Amino acid sequence: MLFAVPKVLMQDFDQEKQRVIIYTAKQVAIVAMLFVLCGLIFLSINILDVQQQQPVTPSSSAGISTVKFVPADTIAKAVGTKLWQAPAVADIPAGEAGEAIRYGRELIAHTAKYFGPRGKIARISNGMNCQNCHLEAGTKVFANNYAVFFANYPKQGIRSGKTDQVTDRISDCFTRSLGGRMPPKNSKEIKAMISYFKWLGAATKRGEKVNGTSTEKLPYLDRAADPEKGRFVYQQKCKSCHGLKGEGLKTADQLSYVYPPLWGKNSYTDAAGMYRISNFAGFVKNNMPFGADYHKPQLSNEEAWDVAAYVNTRPRLHRDQRKDYPDLSRKPIDAPFGPYPDEFSEQQHKLGPFKPIVDYAKRRAGKGNDFTALTDLKGKKP
Ligand code: HEC
Ligand code: HEC
Repeated sequence: MLFAVPKVLMQDFDQEKQRVIIYTAKQVAIVAMLFVLCGLIFLSINILDVQQQQPVTPSSSAGISTVKFVPADTIAKAVGTKLWQAPAVADIPAGEAGEAIRYGRELIAHTAKYFGPRGKIARISNGMNCQNCHLEAGTKVFANNYAVFFANYPKQGIRSGKTDQVTDRISDCFTRSLGGRMPPKNSKEIKAMISYFKWLGAATKRGEKVNGTSTEKLPYLDRAADPEKGRFVYQQKCKSCHGLKGEGLKTADQLSYVYPPLWGKNSYTDAAGMYRISNFAGFVKNNMPFGADYHKPQLSNEEAWDVAAYVNTRPRLHRDQRKDYPDLSRKPIDAPFGPYPDEFSEQQHKLGPFKPIVDYAKRRAGKGNDFTALTDLKGKKP
C-alpha cells in the first residue's frame, strides 16, 4: 500500500499510545486524589465551624477552652488557651449587695437612660451607653470587657502619669468617650457600677494574665491606613446601621441609640481610647458589623484599618490632650496628638505607616535609650 506505515513506526506508535494512556491515567489519579483531599479539607472546616457555632452559655462550667477555633490572624495566640468567661447573671447574689450589682450592670448597659441628654438622673453625657464599646455589659471576650479592671486598681496610669483610682478610670470614659462628666464619686450610681466591676472580675488576681481582654492587636499595614478606601468599606458594611453621616439611629423615645453614632458631636471625643486607630481597628475586626465575633470576623485586617482611618478622620469633639502621657517614652505610637519622642508627623502617628516609627523606636531602644513606646509591640495597650 502506498500509505502503509512501516512496521517499525507502527511499534513506535503503539509504545507512544501506551505512554499516553499511562500518563493520562496518572493525571486522572492525581486529580481524583486532589478532589478527595479538597473534600476532606472542606468537611473538616465545616465540622470545626459547627463546633464554633455551638452557643457558649455563661453558666456552662466547661469553659470555652474545649472548643476548637480556626485561628484568625494574630488571635491565633488565644487558641488552646482558656479564654475569660464572665460569671453568670443568674449567679448575682440576692439581697442588697446583689441589688447594687444589678443596678451597676443596668447603668453600664443603658447609661443614656440615666445620664444622657434626656437622662432621668442627670443630663451629663452624649447619649452613648458604656455597653456600646464594652459589649454585653462588659462581658464579651475581645470586646473591651472588664475582666481585669477592678483587680488592677489603683494603678500607675500611663496616660495620666499618676496613680489612678477606680473612679479615675471610670471618669475617664465618662469625659472622653461619653463627652461629659462622671456622676459624683459617692453617688449610689457610681458605687453600683463599682460593685458590678468587682463582681465581674472577682476571679481575676492583680497582675494576672487573662485571655480575651481588650481587643485583637492587628498587625500593622505596610502603608498608611487609607480613609478613602475606608469610606468604601463604611458604605458597604457600616452605613446601614450607623448612618450616612455616622449619626447613628435613636430609639423611638429618643432616650438612647439603637445604633450609636460614630462621629459628630454625640460621638466619642478625640481623647477617647476608640480614637486611637489601633483600638478602633481591633474592635471592629472583632465585633463589627454587629454580630461579628473574634473567631468569625467579617472584615479583613486591611478593611478594619481603612474603615478606622475613615471614621477617625471625620469631625468630632476635641479635647486638649497635651498633658496626656507625660512620660513620652511610654506614649503609644498611635496616640493621636503630640508631643512625640520622635520626628514623625502627627498625621503618621494617626494613620501610619507605623513600621518606620516602630523601627525608629527599636533603634533608639537599642542605643540604651529608655524609649519603650514598644509596649504596643508586645500587644499591650496602655
Ligand atoms: C466609645 C467607646 C467607649 C465607651 C462609650 C466607653 N468606653 Fe470605657 N473604654 C473604651 C476603650 C477603647 C477602653 C480601653 C482603653 C484603651 O485601651 O486605651 C476603655 C476602658 C475602660 C475601662 C478600663 C478597663 C481596664 O481593664 O482597665 C473602664 C473601667 C471603662 N472603660 C469604663 C467605662 C464606663 C463606665 C463607660 C460608660 C460611662 C465607658 N467605659 C464607656 C471605650 C469606651
Ligand atoms: C447591624 C448593624 C450594625 C452594623 C452593620 C455595624 N454596626 Fe457598629 N454597632 C452596632 C451596634 C448595635 C453597636 C452598639 C453595641 C451595643 O450597644 O451593644 C455598635 C457599636 C459600634 C462601635 C462602638 C460604639 C461607637 O458608636 O463608637 C463602633 C466603633 C462601631 N460599631 C463601628 C462599626 C463599623 C466600623 C462598622 C462597619 C464595618 C459597623 N460598626 C457596622 C451596629 C452595627
